[in-house]
Amino acid sequence: MAKVLSGAGLRGQVAGKTALSTVGVSGSGLTYRGYDVKDLAEHCQFEEVAYLILKGKLPNQQELDSYKAMLKSQRGLPQALKEVLERIPADAHPMDVLRTGCSMLGNLEGEHDFEQQQAITDRMLACFPSIICYWYRFSHDGVRVDVETDDDSIGAHFLHMLHGEKPSELHERVMHVSLILYAEHEFNASTFTARVCASTLSDMHSCITGAIGSLRGPLHGGANEAAMEMIERFESADHAEQEMMGMLERKEKIMGFGHAIYSESDPRNEIIKGWSEKLAADVGDTVLYPVSVRCEAVMWREKKLFCNADFFHASAYHFMKIPTKLFTPIFVMSRLTGWAGHVMEQRADNRIIRPSAEYTGEELRPVPAMSER
Ligand code: COA
Repeated sequence: MAKVLSGAGLRGQVAGKTALSTVGVSGSGLTYRGYDVKDLAEHCQFEEVAYLILKGKLPNQQELDSYKAMLKSQRGLPQALKEVLERIPADAHPMDVLRTGCSMLGNLEGEHDFEQQQAITDRMLACFPSIICYWYRFSHDGVRVDVETDDDSIGAHFLHMLHGEKPSELHERVMHVSLILYAEHEFNASTFTARVCASTLSDMHSCITGAIGSLRGPLHGGANEAAMEMIERFESADHAEQEMMGMLERKEKIMGFGHAIYSESDPRNEIIKGWSEKLAADVGDTVLYPVSVRCEAVMWREKKLFCNADFFHASAYHFMKIPTKLFTPIFVMSRLTGWAGHVMEQRADNRIIRPSAEYTGEELRPVPAMSER
């Protein structure tokens, strides 16, 4: 008989192998293919890290240049996909838009052979920002935005389409850092979703569509949006403290804090917090950043709970004038690399993932006659 687990949520169970990342094991706490995320965020562009995750090594200059040029050439969207995006209303959630966009892309440019997996992934990396911004700008501003920009990076391409102008150097750098921090995180809920789907030998678009659905929830990727909605309600650091104390007393969950694996800190927090501080200085903010710092202090003092990657991402994105509802889709633009890397890994050494359940229902019983029910 299968062993019955005592802990809910599969916590602490090893559910497979990966060579992609470690969480809470070495370095600052998060490594991608043996490199510390802190090191990568300091020295690399996001495209280098995507290459590392997907192909197993850091690119040299020539490899990086040609990888970026190839991605740049694939930003365009098929007309049929644009038409679908134009029919989605402005009040739809952008994660639903992305889920539909990914699925529609699978209908138009499906993966028919696993040998296409790298090319399919690169295409998604190149065009997911286009899908988000095409829908957003059409539904909100009535503009059919040009999705084939000549921007150097995925992050700059996104900001350019969103704001109608090229981003500053600071904003482009923050996008690199943010996308690097979100790129990969071992067997988190959305990645596990992608791996389960891959284990049935399904196609890449199905795996990624499923993963988008998992990331959407507020206990996972949706936390950055929920954190923003909370901090923008606070008028000052003192007000934030007062409100947070009330929330804690009412035992409310505070989004952007805590983690299923890390126990004392999330290594991504320190990095994005530093950039949020720089952005705050850049825009002359005197409220949102101090409010965020106070929230962090109160949560640590009262509950020993620390900010996860999502908390300071909220203010950082806000300072770059990114609408709150686009926060989680940016996470997708990045985590796509980790998801696809895991799909490839699962396919390379596959057995269908099919755990067992502990039965808690009725004992075996006969079906009663209709008149006796
Ligand atoms: N706010 C308030 N209390 C929290 C909390 C939070 N953000 N995170 C954890 N806790 C509490 C739990 O309710 C639990 O209390 P209890 O023992 O009285 O029930 C205790 O701290 C321990 O929780 P833990 O077992 O560490 O959490 P988990 O592993 O089940 O869940 C998260 C991890 C991330 C889902 C959880 O911390 C959470 O919901 N955070 C907010 C959502 C978020 O930011 N998600 C993004 C993750 S990167």
